[in-house]
Amino acid sequence: MNRLWSAAQAGLFLLDPETAHEASLRALEAGIHPRQCKPDDPRLSQTLFGLTFPNPIGVAAGYDKDARVYNALFAMGFGSVEAGTLTPKPQPGNPRPRSFRLIRERAIINRMGFNNAGHDAAQLRLASRPPKGVLGINIGANRNSADPIADYVAGVRALGPLASYVAINISSPNTPGLRDLQAPERLDALLGAVMEARASLPRPVPVLVKLAPDLPGEEIAPTMACLLAHKVDGAILTNTTLSRDGVEASPHRGEAGGLSGRPLFARSTRFLARCYLATGGKLPLIGVGGIDSAETALAKVRAGASLIQLYTGLVYGGPALLSDIKAALLAETARAAAPLASLVGTEAERWAAS
Ligand SMILES: Cc1cc2nc3c(=O)[nH]c(=O)nc-3n(C[C@H](O)[C@H](O)[C@H](O)COP(=O)(O)O)c2cc1C
Repeated sequence: MNRLWSAAQAGLFLLDPETAHEASLRALEAGIHPRQCKPDDPRLSQTLFGLTFPNPIGVAAGYDKDARVYNALFAMGFGSVEAGTLTPKPQPGNPRPRSFRLIRERAIINRMGFNNAGHDAAQLRLASRPPKGVLGINIGANRNSADPIADYVAGVRALGPLASYVAINISSPNTPGLRDLQAPERLDALLGAVMEARASLPRPVPVLVKLAPDLPGEEIAPTMACLLAHKVDGAILTNTTLSRDGVEASPHRGEAGGLSGRPLFARSTRFLARCYLATGGKLPLIGVGGIDSAETALAKVRAGASLIQLYTGLVYGGPALLSDIKAALLAETARAAAPLASLVGTEAERWAAS
């Protein structure tokens, strides 16, 4: 499979990133993808916020924006998929080009701007193709929304009943004003409305909040206190960064948007560890940002992640990354003679101080 992927990747990298992305989605829709033949080793399984994940490795939001290929991704062996970001109304996103490969740095800068087909289209698709695995749905606000909080409430109501969990995305840098919802008073109002909407659903879908790694250090404690006060089920840490550390030599460094991939790893892992410590490990955390190897996956777990997600690492490393990470996690649980959960946060202090 590795050789096949190298050939496919060489072909995809001849295309601009967005065309390559669409080509990969169409291949998955057509059933052209590797398949996991055996079920996951039960030692990789975990139950968190009432959901059983067969393994801790998920696909991060932004890859399957319109919930088109989640079942193909489950068949490949991912333990969860986060579709979205979905907004109430369809919107085209920013003008192209809006996604850039920084190949030497194994990074991407994107300013897609929540291009998506909206709630109604997603609802139809989800209803006609029941998810065969843990499907998170990441929701956001329309760019021109007069009332962004109402957009999240609409997302919980429309898509919550169809999702395994709902991710409240207030950390995209590409929708003006969106990250302002992370400010304590706005966050309090947003979560109050979201949790009220959840309470009105027939089934209380788990709610997770996705944060940016650029939140100043002094805001971590109040932010996490707010998440705990509203009894959200978890946090997804992190989205892309506005920082350009580590990509100073790239011709694309001046492009507006969020940076993902290898240069984000240290920043997002430090942020994750600080959030883990701020909650005393009480809140389940999904670690995302720059995972591109078994080592970086294990580091995320040790920094405080119960689950992890991948995006940019898959663009550069292909699906072999998934089996590499599973093998490393199993080897580590065997070496430690302890379940995966016992590794979570074991190096949070070191990462937080890094
Ligand atoms: C092209 C692209 C589009 C993305 N779109 C979204 C999105 O719609 N919603 C979201 O919450 N995150 C989005 N992300 C962020 C990823 O989910 C992830 O948080 C980030 O890329 C860090 O992980 P990585 O380094 O493994 O890519 C996007 C990332 C990329 C590269």
